[in-house]
Amino acid sequence: MVKMLPWFSVAALTLGAGTVALLLNSCSTAGRAVVVPPKIEGATFVGDKACADCHGRITRIFPASPHARLRLEYGQMAGQNSCESCHGPGSKHVAAGAGGTNFIVNPGKDPAACFQCHLDAQAEFHLPQHHPVLEGKMNCVQCHDPHGQDIMKAAGGLAMARLNESCSQCHQAQTKPVVFEHPALREGCGACHNPHGSVNPKLLTVRDSNLCLRCHAQVPGPLAPPGTLYIGNVNHTTFIRFGACWTAGCHTAVHGSNTQPYYLY
Ligand code: HEC
Ligand code: HEC
Ligand code: HEC
Ligand code: HEC
Ligand code: HEC
Ligand code: HEC
Ligand code: HEC
Repeated sequence: MVKMLPWFSVAALTLGAGTVALLLNSCSTAGRAVVVPPKIEGATFVGDKACADCHGRITRIFPASPHARLRLEYGQMAGQNSCESCHGPGSKHVAAGAGGTNFIVNPGKDPAACFQCHLDAQAEFHLPQHHPVLEGKMNCVQCHDPHGQDIMKAAGGLAMARLNESCSQCHQAQTKPVVFEHPALREGCGACHNPHGSVNPKLLTVRDSNLCLRCHAQVPGPLAPPGTLYIGNVNHTTFIRFGACWTAGCHTAVHGSNTQPYYLY
């Protein structure tokens, strides 16, 4: 394992040497990597306050973002903070004022900007089944807001309304309202899918019926004589031989159904 230098001492060192462009920045949780913020020739770090004048909305919502922890953790480094860890040192951009997009990095939709700190996410997108981010067909900021409180636009535990905003952009079939809702969806799509990637088909967290049995306990006791399998008061002894619970002929409409209370179709 690579030994990690404390962020502040590295920063102090590089600043002391007057070469701010190489300011190193360690990410405490994600991937535990040491990364280099974008380099901007001749520019120095100015701090988040300097951004507030012209980017009021982002600066206002930012303190609630998990990304603001970058700054809080290293609070003693006044001025060396979060905006610039992704956007690069801002002095020349600020000086340019209305010059706008000059002298600042916009990571845009390039996942490489995120992978610098989130190596574990990068690994997940390399799993056999994955959302096509590396293929350039979609990107991190469609599901994550780098600035706001709701960095996890689709985190488990959020209401369906919130999930609709994120996953439903692209998956209407599974997120539209239905007569017989499967309450599992209220836990979030993540109750059954790994949103980044998985070794299982359809990004499933578990490839077989154990996916469902986590919530649907097999019924013990007098209802279920030895050698039988009861789930939800229904004798499943023969059904389970067909395969996973969502196999053709069984609960194929796991996301809910307009016509069938057991999500058979
Ligand atoms: C974790 C990395 C990260 C941090 C920290 C960060 N940003 Fe960003 N920022 C991005 C990304 C990624 C985009 C591009 C978003 C997109 O294309 O939807 C962006 C876009 C922007 C834009 C241009 C697009 C827009 O939404 O107006 C501005 C301005 C901006 N950021 C300002 C800031 C300010 C000010 C801060 C600090 C308060 C900050 N950013 C902190 C990653 C970051
Ligand atoms: C004097 C005003 C001013 C200040 C201060 C300022 N910006 Fe900007 N910035 C602008 C203008 C104008 C634009 C172009 C219009 C827009 O995207 O809002 C811009 C655009 C950006 C963009 C998008 C660049 C692109 O290529 O799309 C980012 C990122 C950004 N600023 C980050 C920052 C950060 C980080 C700070 C603080 C270090 C900062 N800005 C301070 C005026 C300013
Ligand atoms: C400079 C390093 C850095 C960069 C670049 C960066 N992040 Fe982060 N990210 C962090 C840190 C540090 C946290 C806070 C983790 C914590 O405190 O649990 C975080 C938190 C997150 C979280 C929430 C994780 C959690 O468990 O709460 C998400 C989602 C996330 N980042 C996505 C992104 C995306 C998308 C990008 C690219 C636009 C990005 N990050 C770029 C450092 C970074
Ligand atoms: C399809 C939507 C989607 C895309 C695209 C996506 N994420 Fe996520 N991400 C999620 C969801 C949903 C979670 C919450 C997972 C959970 O808590 O079960 C998450 C969690 C995270 C976390 C928290 C730690 C973890 O792995 O659980 C990080 C960091 C993160 N994402 C980074 C990224 C980065 C970087 C990218 C782009 C390379 C990205 N994500 C693309 C939906 C997405
Ligand atoms: C920006 C669009 C977009 C968003 C947002 C999005 N997805 Fe996807 N999703 C895709 C694409 C594109 C594919 C790949 C489809 C393909 O390869 O045919 C995919 C594939 C999938 C698959 C596998 C389907 C299959 O046939 O293998 C699942 C499951 C899935 N997404 C769930 C989710 C969940 C859960 C969320 C929210 C956390 C989400 N998606 C958000 C675009 C999106
Ligand atoms: C109770 C578990 C569960 C939950 C919760 C769940 N899914 Fe699924 N999902 C499945 C299973 C099982 C399959 C595989 C179905 C199959 O192969 O026939 C699947 C398949 C998919 C597919 C691929 C569809 C296809 O036709 O191949 C997409 C896309 C998808 N889910 C999106 C979502 C989204 C978006 C959410 C959240 C709104 C969600 N799922 C919540 C279990 C779930
Ligand atoms: C996160 C927990 C969770 C998961 C995972 C889950 N379910 Fe459910 N499911 C529920 C809840 C809660 C209900 C409401 C009835 C209840 O309390 O048993 C329900 C109801 C059902 C019903 C309607 C019959 C009834 O008992 O009301 C069927 C059928 C069903 N689920 C099938 C599945 C299948 C198939 C899977 C796996 C793909 C699955 N469930 C995964 C939580 C879950």
